This record gives sequence, structure tokens and C-alpha cells, in this order.
Amino acid sequence: MNLLAPVQEAGLGRREQLVQALRRAMLGGQLSSGEQLPSSRVLASDLGLSRVTVEAAYGRLEAEGYLQRNVGRGSFVKLDLPTSRPSASRGPVGKPLTGPAELSRRGQRIHEGGGCSDPQIAQAFAAGSPDLRAFPHALWRQLWTRHLRAAPLGMGYGDPQGHEGLREAIAAYLNASRGLHCRPEQVLVLSSSQQALQLIAHLLLDEGDRVWQEEPGYRGAATVWAAAGAELQAVPVDAEGLPPNAPYAAPKLVYLTPSHQYPCGMALSLPRRLAWLERAKQEGLWLVEDDYDSEFHYDGRPMPALQGLDHNGRVLYLGTFSKTLFPSLRLAYLVLPETLVAPFVVARTLMDGHPAQLPQAVTADFMRQGHFSAHLRLMRQLYAERREVLLEALQPLNAWLKPHPSPGGLQLAATLPPGQEARLSRAAAERGVLTPSLSALYRGSAAQDGWLLGYSALTPAEIRLAAQSLQSLNRHAS
Ligand SMILES: Cc1ncc(COP(=O)(O)O)c(C=O)c1O
Repeated sequence: MNLLAPVQEAGLGRREQLVQALRRAMLGGQLSSGEQLPSSRVLASDLGLSRVTVEAAYGRLEAEGYLQRNVGRGSFVKLDLPTSRPSASRGPVGKPLTGPAELSRRGQRIHEGGGCSDPQIAQAFAAGSPDLRAFPHALWRQLWTRHLRAAPLGMGYGDPQGHEGLREAIAAYLNASRGLHCRPEQVLVLSSSQQALQLIAHLLLDEGDRVWQEEPGYRGAATVWAAAGAELQAVPVDAEGLPPNAPYAAPKLVYLTPSHQYPCGMALSLPRRLAWLERAKQEGLWLVEDDYDSEFHYDGRPMPALQGLDHNGRVLYLGTFSKTLFPSLRLAYLVLPETLVAPFVVARTLMDGHPAQLPQAVTADFMRQGHFSAHLRLMRQLYAERREVLLEALQPLNAWLKPHPSPGGLQLAATLPPGQEARLSRAAAERGVLTPSLSALYRGSAAQDGWLLGYSALTPAEIRLAAQSLQSLNRHAS
């Protein structure tokens, strides 16, 4: 047996290699307790080592308790391994490590839920991405460099609630533009809406609690509630959004996209907003307001946020920079009722401490210096034009592809004849066009076939080209 073989590549000295090889052989059971090792002279000659090296290795192992050495009798393995000892490559004895089978109940729900991820390339018609080519890169670089020069800012730990300047900028923006009533002390800066939803589930839901979710609705949210062990109630939306008096068992938490329902695009009507707030006050339920893309309304201003109407601290408002700046920035924010701030900040320290300091500082400058509003104005114009281009380019398909009316957003929901989605999506993919599924956003039985066509990241020429490719599907659709 070449005892040195397993560690020859490790870049260690020869004595250390021998120590490790012997230790591993003993722990792995190839050398068992009581077994006599070759004398240092014999082993040195077998391995082509000096006797001093082998003596030193034996001495180390004796000192560590692996060997017993008796003068005149030799060196013996002393290690008694427990019989049920789990080894490095297996789980508890008798149960091979198979992944999901070893998970907690929560872990299994997370795994089975399949998670959620967003498209990484801006290909027609991937949904939900802002135009990254139109981003003011040079300006961003300048702000970034300025902060890098001002080191050590950004190199130490930061506030778990988020960079103070950024929280101030977010609160000022939301109060002025989205009709919120909030102070910077209520803002929690996070790495994503997804992280916010995860925190909300951790802190506000127990297993078996009921959550109402819009139907169709955002999978990223539904997956989180399900992973938390909540009873998910999919409640169909109508032209006024989610009905507060739907005939289902009362929820503990309601997830809403009130400004621009995801994915259909309507706003929650004012009477329903007031009814939801009243119900939340009476029954002590939580309303999660996901205001994910209300910056991009093209027909007038979006309705102000539900949070601004709440006088009882029942609304958790959620926003993200994934759409307004860029997704890989990984910055989002929660505006919390005063009573929830402390527990959320504590819980956040158990997750990732805080988002990276430098991007927060740069984003704060970008907002404070007026670049954020200017950028939004420009993007609003760009995306409004692109929505028009898409609607026009889809007209030849309107016999079978019917766009939903929507006042804004980065994508357009369009319905297909029942039973056609899978076949038409395959045919579109063969032509190099992605057509994100609408039916996948339903949890109940009455799923509507359709597509969610992203347009904001595409130039008018790219939109027309992809729509032309879809025109050749006309005969498949009839
Ligand atoms: C309804 C909704 N909320 C939130 C987000 C943004 O998520 P994040 O901040 O995790 O990137 C998206 C992204 O597509 C979304 O569609």
C-alpha cells in the first residue's frame, strides 16, 4: 500500500504528507485499533523517506492520540472509532445522504416549490427587464468612482436597516411621488423584493395561516407563502382588482399589486382600497402592497399607494430598484408600520446583515442629485413608445392574440384561445421568440392561456422583428 498516495498532490512537506495519510487511513478504518504499524526503519525504506521523517510523523500521531508507542515493542493504532460514526460522505448511519429526504419540512417545501428566477438575457419577449442599454452608465461610474476615492466608506460593516442617506432619499421619493406617509426610520433597505417577501413570511406567518393571493398573480410571492407552510387562497381578480368580500375563509395576510395588477395591469379601485383597509383594521390582517413597477405608467399618473391611506399600521409597502435602475444592483425597500421596524431589522441581521454599502451610497447620490427622477422620466417616454410599437406590431395577430388593456408596465399580458398556449409557445420558440406563459401565473383550475410579452428592454426594430416572426404562427393558431 502506498500510504502517501492520497496526499501527494497537496503541496505539503513529506512528514506532513505521511501524517495526513496515516491519520486518514485510521479514520477511514483501513488501519484498525490495535494494528501494529511497520517500524520506522521499514516504512522509511518502503517509502523512500528518511527514518527521521517517519519518526517525526509517528511522534506527531502519538502526541495527537492516534498511536501508542512502546519502546522495544513497536507502534500500534490506538483509535477506537464509534461504530455508528457518520462518515464524511454519508448522512446518519443507514440513511444515505440523498438531498431532499434529509431536509426539514420547511426545506422540503422550499425545494418542492421550485423557487423562482428571472430571465438573464433581454431577448424578445422576455418579461420584466428595464432597458439596460439606455442606463446612464458614465454618470453611474462617476458617482461610483467618487465613493471609491472616499474610502474607507463602503469597506466596513453598515447599518442593518440600510444606509441612512439612502433611506432618507427613498422616503422623500415615496412621499413626493407615490403618496406614501413615511419617515426614513420606517424604511428597511433590502437586496430584493424576494428577500422582503421572505422576511415577511418569516415574521408574520405561522404554518397553516391563510394568505390570499391575486389570481393570476406573482409566482415569486406565492412560492414564498407556500414555502412558509401557509394555506394559500388564490382569489380571482376582476376589473377592479382583488375583491375584499370574496367568499373564502378569512386571511391573516393579503398580497396585493394595487397600482398595476401583476400580470393583468388593472388598478385596485378606490372603494376596494378603502374596504381592504377597513377590513385590515377590523380583523387585524396584514396587507402587503407590492408596488413593483408603478413608476412606468403611461396614461396619466398611477394611483397613489395604498400605504398613504392607511392610518392603522396594517400596510407593508414594497418597492424595488430592479425595474427603475437595474436588476443586478440588488436593492429593494420595505416601508414598515412603526411597530414592525425593530423585529424586521433584527431578523434581517440573521440573513445577510445588510446590502453592500457602496451601491447603497451611490444610489443615494443618484436619487439626491435628481438623476433618478430624470432617468425615470426618460424611461417612461421610451417604454411608452415601445408599448405603442408592440400593440401596433401585434395587430395582424389580433384574431387569436388579444392584448389586455394596461396603463403601463414593462410587459403586456395577451390572451390566447383555450388550449393553445403550449403549442404556440413551442412554435414561437422554434422561431427564436420567447413567449413567457400567462397560464403559469394561475394556481387554481381556470387558468387562462396567454403570454406575458416584455417590451421595455427592446428597441422598436427588435419588437417589430419578433412580432413579424410571430405572424408566421397565424396558420398554427387557426
Ligand atoms: C410583481 C413583482 N414584484 C417584484 C418584482 C421584483 O423583484 P426583485 O426586487 O426581487 O428583483 C417583480 C419582478 O419581476 C415582480 O414582477
